[in-house]
Amino acid sequence: MRVRIAASVTVLGLLWAGMPTASAAESPTYNQDVGSILLENCASCHRPNQVAPMSLLSYKDARPWARAIKSKVASREMPPWFADPSYGTFSNDISLTDDEIATVLAWVDAGSPEGDGPAPEAPRFSDAGWSHPSGTEPDYVIEFPIAWEVPADGETPNFNLYTPLPFNDVLRVSATQVRPGNYAATHHITTGLVNMPPGKVLGTGPAWSGGPMVDYVPVDDPDADPAAQAIPAGRPQGGRRALDPEAREEAAAQRAGFGPYIPGVGADVARAGQVREIRGDLFDYVIWNLHYQATGKLEQARPSIGAWIATEQSSQRVRSLGLREATSEGRQLVAAPPLTAEERALAGPSQVGQGLNPTLDPIPPNDGNWTVTGVGAFQNDAVIQSLFVHAHVRGNDFTWLLTYPDGREEVLLRVPNYNFDWQFEYELAEPLRVPAGSTVKSIARYDNSRNNRRNPAPQKEVYWSEQSWDDMYLTNVSYINADDTSEN
Ligand code: HEC
Repeated sequence: MRVRIAASVTVLGLLWAGMPTASAAESPTYNQDVGSILLENCASCHRPNQVAPMSLLSYKDARPWARAIKSKVASREMPPWFADPSYGTFSNDISLTDDEIATVLAWVDAGSPEGDGPAPEAPRFSDAGWSHPSGTEPDYVIEFPIAWEVPADGETPNFNLYTPLPFNDVLRVSATQVRPGNYAATHHITTGLVNMPPGKVLGTGPAWSGGPMVDYVPVDDPDADPAAQAIPAGRPQGGRRALDPEAREEAAAQRAGFGPYIPGVGADVARAGQVREIRGDLFDYVIWNLHYQATGKLEQARPSIGAWIATEQSSQRVRSLGLREATSEGRQLVAAPPLTAEERALAGPSQVGQGLNPTLDPIPPNDGNWTVTGVGAFQNDAVIQSLFVHAHVRGNDFTWLLTYPDGREEVLLRVPNYNFDWQFEYELAEPLRVPAGSTVKSIARYDNSRNNRRNPAPQKEVYWSEQSWDDMYLTNVSYINADDTSEN
């Protein structure tokens, strides 16, 4: 509604001056109307050293881009946001309102005037380029020791490197962020916490089977004597163990590390009263799962991790419910649970991606409407906080359904045009309390036809793996147990 208010103030001003109203006075200006819209909704990405190609921090920055801004804002391509507004309200929804869009378009049509008055003030941003909404710098930074060279072309497979975790105690954090160091060349990064398997040390070896030699990979310890290979007491080790679901979830939470870098996602900030623990007492190494993409020129990428130390005393633990693939085109699936991140790390680089559900049928060639449904059930009363979806370029749309124990159903989220370039965690504006026995279902549809412009090979059968020419079904609910009032 900023247009009308601004316009009527101007009109009043003109009447007081005893002058006739001019229609130009109705146009929005940068200083009065548009600057604040761009600063609040665009500058988080459109500032130096961020993911977007140009800065939109000032009139001088924005003016040359006016035409492009009009076109991207009118088509709702910018800011990127993919939830269907008919379902749910999300606190990290960065889309513009209809009024804001009308204001931006009217400003461009009027010749993008700067207008009178002081320029709107930019929100505080981290000087070093971090994305905590407060604009503060992290208290703790771990830089990857080397810059990885990404060749100008060709595919680099996913690979894992390891660095020592530089602390031995529990780091209680309110926020973490993984920055890629090079946005264009980075497809994604995930981090986790691990220990070296017995008989291995960090050394120089192939980054992946047949890949370049590099430091920071586990190699056989030449000095290992059998006694030294005993597992230290209380330290989680690799290998598939018969864990009950609660223990498995606990272990997964401990290993979660500092989180991922995913396009579109900045710092992962805990809700008020919630704290995450980074367990330096249990783990000695950070595992970096790195996935790079060629940009046409030789690129260097040196990722880093930032952590903001928690000041809150009490903590509620945020849990994660992975929706396991339950059906594939109506066929009921029964499968061993996928490997955990740690198990995958220990399985060796050549096996990365093998942890995906082995009974999931491949997507047939030229199939434009392949469906996979995942289901998860809450064992306790729970409070749902956010939803995450991940697929690759065949991913077309997602529908999330909540079913209460009495059979009532509610759509939690619709992503009608899933876009591999932007993988948002959808944060519920109002966390949703659900009783034990509620289930959440996420139905994904994949388009392996020629109609999918991003499809590199519609004639091919598509397998499930972490490589982006294959596909994935990964859906997650972040929640807390409703009765979890634990104090640490
Ligand atoms: C979450 C990050 C993000 C936000 C928020 C965002 N952008 Fe972008 N924007 C990008 C990225 C990345 C690109 C380049 C890739 C692309 O076009 O998708 C881009 C591209 C653009 C382009 C095209 C530039 C060109 O080279 O032609 C325009 C114009 C633009 N954005 C305007 C905006 C405006 C206006 C807003 C706010 C109303 C906004 N963006 C919000 C990330 C963002």
